[in-house]
Amino acid sequence: MKKKRVFSGVQPTGNLHLGNYLGAIKNFVNLQSDNDCIYCVVDLHAITIKYKPEELRLNTLEIIASFLAAGLDYKKSILFNQSSVSAHAEFAWILNSVSRIGWMNRMTQFKEKAGEDKENASVGLFVYPTLMAADILLYDATHVPVGEDQKQHLELTRDIAQKFNNDFNTEGFLTIPEPLIQREFSRIMSLRDGKKKMSKSESSDQSRINLKDDKDIIAQKIKKAKTDSLPIPSNKSEFHSRTEAENLINIYQSVSGSSLENVLKDFGGKNFSLLKEKLTEILIEKICPIGDEINKLLKDQKYLKSVLKEGNLKANEMANSKLDKIYNEIGILNVD
Ligand code: AMP
Ligand code: TRP
Repeated sequence: MKKKRVFSGVQPTGNLHLGNYLGAIKNFVNLQSDNDCIYCVVDLHAITIKYKPEELRLNTLEIIASFLAAGLDYKKSILFNQSSVSAHAEFAWILNSVSRIGWMNRMTQFKEKAGEDKENASVGLFVYPTLMAADILLYDATHVPVGEDQKQHLELTRDIAQKFNNDFNTEGFLTIPEPLIQREFSRIMSLRDGKKKMSKSESSDQSRINLKDDKDIIAQKIKKAKTDSLPIPSNKSEFHSRTEAENLINIYQSVSGSSLENVLKDFGGKNFSLLKEKLTEILIEKICPIGDEINKLLKDQKYLKSVLKEGNLKANEMANSKLDKIYNEIGILNVD
């Protein structure tokens, strides 16, 4: 089987949570042994909303620490930060001229992040998806592991690549990437409201399990997690609109690695206290060691920077070679 070229990105906008881990990073780790993998800390995406410069630097290192703690190996996968490869911003500018305003206007993430006051959102937030397309297309990625919330951006990336290939008559020049979305765990929901996704930007910390939460905090958050008064269903079709129940079962299934049938067999008909007890145990067993490792790695910033430096070199080499070809295709004069 031909190796996949895998690319994905994570924003350095604060603590990583269980949704990031189960929806994306766990899959990054699974993919790294058999494929060419490139994982990027997308710092230029993080500046499209209000942020603090002094936090951005630390958050960037924290994502690299989280990648390593979750099991990524910088000798196998390329780990780097987006701004260190200037080709991303250059190619994004080119793609801004390929993309159509109508396409951007349909992006739901922009609508969600801009909120009520769209006129006051940054232009960067509006064209965020062209930078994401540039990230992916620069490396001829064939597969992009992401959570369900990024599906629309991936479809847009495919449209942009196709239009570029058509406009410049370069069929096959930009590789059309496939999304890799884990079906069951593509959307981990908030612990306080099963209709909202677990998110870094949600104001209540009770709504999420952060990778760095200690065991007491995990126990307390799961204890307080919203449920309903009915027993746990014995089969999937009985979940209906019981989103909180479904979410806890999904999390248990994903973290424990067992099948949904087995989980429903074990917990069906019982009440939530047993599930919560077992879920707390398994989260403490699987998530706390990752959090401990993140904290340990963060104490050695020199090491984390050396990991980034190595990735930055490799990524620059690949991206610059593609960017030269792109400039050539679009008719930019090169006198070297
Ligand atoms: P971000 O932190 O927004 O850069 O997201 C990093 C990755 O985590 C992306 O692939 C997202 O799709 C994924 N992700 C974020 N939140 C969730 C969630 N609640 N459930 C599943 N995947 C998520
Ligand atoms: N937009 C993605 C998110 O919010 C992050 C991202 C940026 C990304 N560039 C990417 C994901 C390229 C996959 C591939 O989660």
